[in-house]
Amino acid sequence: MLSEEEILAGIDRTARSVTSFYGDEEFVVVSILKGSFVFASDLVRRIPNRIELSFVGVSSYRDGTESGPLEWTLFPTEDEFAGRRVLLVDDILDTGRTLSAVRSELLEQGARDVHSCVFLDKPARRAVEFRADFVGFEIDDVYVVGYGLDWAGRYRNLPYLATFSPEADPSRP
Ligand code: IMP
Ligand code: MG
Repeated sequence: MLSEEEILAGIDRTARSVTSFYGDEEFVVVSILKGSFVFASDLVRRIPNRIELSFVGVSSYRDGTESGPLEWTLFPTEDEFAGRRVLLVDDILDTGRTLSAVRSELLEQGARDVHSCVFLDKPARRAVEFRADFVGFEIDDVYVVGYGLDWAGRYRNLPYLATFSPEADPSRP
């Protein structure tokens, strides 16, 4: 769906928007594991601001390609974000449940403000109201893998983005 070159061009663009939004202010980039580790790594290297990097882990217990209840797998330490400006980074904004829950938690922990930056946005799938402040690419309602995104834990290491259907998975028994 997107080649490595197309992805990196999109990240250049996204990083420029983030940089001009924050001006010369310092902020904390919070990467939501596991899916956003590839995107976050390319993104932060294109942001010249003084930033700190942090990680939270949230699993949305997918049954195949459908999202289920959320579970924290890595919780922020207390006071980590108190008074700080936070940029949440995720691989994809789908139903909106993950970003909405993480955002509420960080605000509850005293973050000064929380903005969000996603590699992909699938607006057609939204179940809770959520708008990302920075979006790399908007895509249709298709399941995708690669560049950090998985199916059953696999394919995160593909350097490009591909559409995926479980029936076509070569590792299927
Ligand atoms: P949410 O539904 O917005 O909470 O998205 C939760 C998570 O679902 C994302 O961070 C991804 O890990 C995963 N996800 C949603 N759509 C896709 C997809 O097309 N491919 C791979 N993972 C996805
Ligand atoms: Mg995932």
